[in-house]
Amino acid sequence: MGIGTRKNIGRLQEADGEGHVLHRTLNGLQLTLLGIGAIIGAGIFVVTGTAAAQHAGPAIVLSFVLAGLGCLFAGLCYAEFASMIPVAGSAYTYGYATLGELVAWIIGWDLMLEYLFASSAVAVGWSGYFTSFVRDYLHWHLPDALTNAPFETRAGSLVPQATGALVNLPAVLLVALLTTLLVVGIHESARVNNVIVFLKVSIVLLVIGFGAFHVDTSHWRPFIPPNTGRFGEFGWSGVLAGAGVIFFAYIGFDAVSTAAQETRDPKRDLPMGILGSLLVCTVLYVLMAGVMTGLAPYSTLNVPEPVYVAISRGGAALAWLRPIVGLGAVAGLASVVLVMLLGQPRVFFAMSRDGLLPPVFGRVHGRFRTPYVSTLITGGISMVVAGLFPIGLLGHLVSIGTLFAFIVVCAGILVLRHTRPDLPRPFRTPFVPVVPVLGILTCGALMLGLGLETWLRLVIWLAIGLVIYFAYGRKHSKAAREEAASAERDAPSPLRPPGA
Ligand code: ALA
Repeated sequence: MGIGTRKNIGRLQEADGEGHVLHRTLNGLQLTLLGIGAIIGAGIFVVTGTAAAQHAGPAIVLSFVLAGLGCLFAGLCYAEFASMIPVAGSAYTYGYATLGELVAWIIGWDLMLEYLFASSAVAVGWSGYFTSFVRDYLHWHLPDALTNAPFETRAGSLVPQATGALVNLPAVLLVALLTTLLVVGIHESARVNNVIVFLKVSIVLLVIGFGAFHVDTSHWRPFIPPNTGRFGEFGWSGVLAGAGVIFFAYIGFDAVSTAAQETRDPKRDLPMGILGSLLVCTVLYVLMAGVMTGLAPYSTLNVPEPVYVAISRGGAALAWLRPIVGLGAVAGLASVVLVMLLGQPRVFFAMSRDGLLPPVFGRVHGRFRTPYVSTLITGGISMVVAGLFPIGLLGHLVSIGTLFAFIVVCAGILVLRHTRPDLPRPFRTPFVPVVPVLGILTCGALMLGLGLETWLRLVIWLAIGLVIYFAYGRKHSKAAREEAASAERDAPSPLRPPGA
């Protein structure tokens, strides 16, 4: 008993009554903005450069299309679940309802890679732009030892090596500041987020709009540089590997679903938030990647601030854009960290409500109405990780963890259409089973592009999670205990025969 226990979806759908613990303040547009706030970040501002230089060249544009397709298929599946089970917890809750407690735990644990580690990864990306910006425009030269990761990874080695730096201090301080903001309340956070999202999208549009006039089309030839002989280094395998790496840039649209308990009309607003933010970002990314690789040779983009470099290559005519891009990246990346730090505690909250994590994770602040303990725990871990590791390592882990969760969500749609065709589905994924199957295949292919060390790290992470589940969650699970109690009630009593 236990590991196969599923949640009663009918009860989850009635969860509105319980849901009033958190404030219901967000509407569809705010959710779309929350999604864009989570999506556009270190992926386009930092990882695009590395992925173009190391894997795909100008064909990074195709990698964006491929990764966007995977997200679209998974997003359509997310939207059906999110409209059907509009409670906090994201893929974790969906897994619980369809595939059983063990799978739910695995997804919940895996989602830590997505939200918690992504908050650290993006904080590290933020630190790169912040350091360059204050150096160029305020003439503050922050010491290298305090702005770089003390550990880095080398190809072929599972264990990170020391770099000589002490800590990435700006990244740590950013996470500390945003964690404080989140403890105070989501409404304030959403308002700050709206302003930053506006700024971030405007800057991406400026780079696309003005950069397009300075593109040198010879940089796009050859569009797919020939493969070097190794899998993932240019050629078509490079496009695939590039897609796996820049998949990171799309992560975040599903964070919308973790705010389900805080939306006014989840059935209508959640699909709108998920699909709307995904669509806007895909168009922006494809255009932005095309402009960046058109402004500068792709081999020059392997730097912590590739958008800066691309614009500088555009010549004097684009010099005015540099500080604006710097500021936009600093504000924009901070908003991504904010949404990731917002998503994680809500998954913890759901897991603790189910008994899989200790009750303290579910504690809500009396006055602020926020899950403040799990917010503080999330912020604390994120700070340590951001202070110690480089964006490359973190980004790969985040990508593989999220792709794995997406595959489970797509599979969940297939299972649920089969086992519970009767359930009301305010939003239905179109063309089932084609869309979920394509989602599984595309996300699986992107995972293949991510390399052996990343796979090994995922396996180690999941193994740690399983140990924790069997040591704690399984024994404390509320659903399993309820199931056991009702089985006991229904069993004929040895003392009093039924009907006596
Ligand atoms: N999509 C987020 C980013 O690119 C994680 O920063």
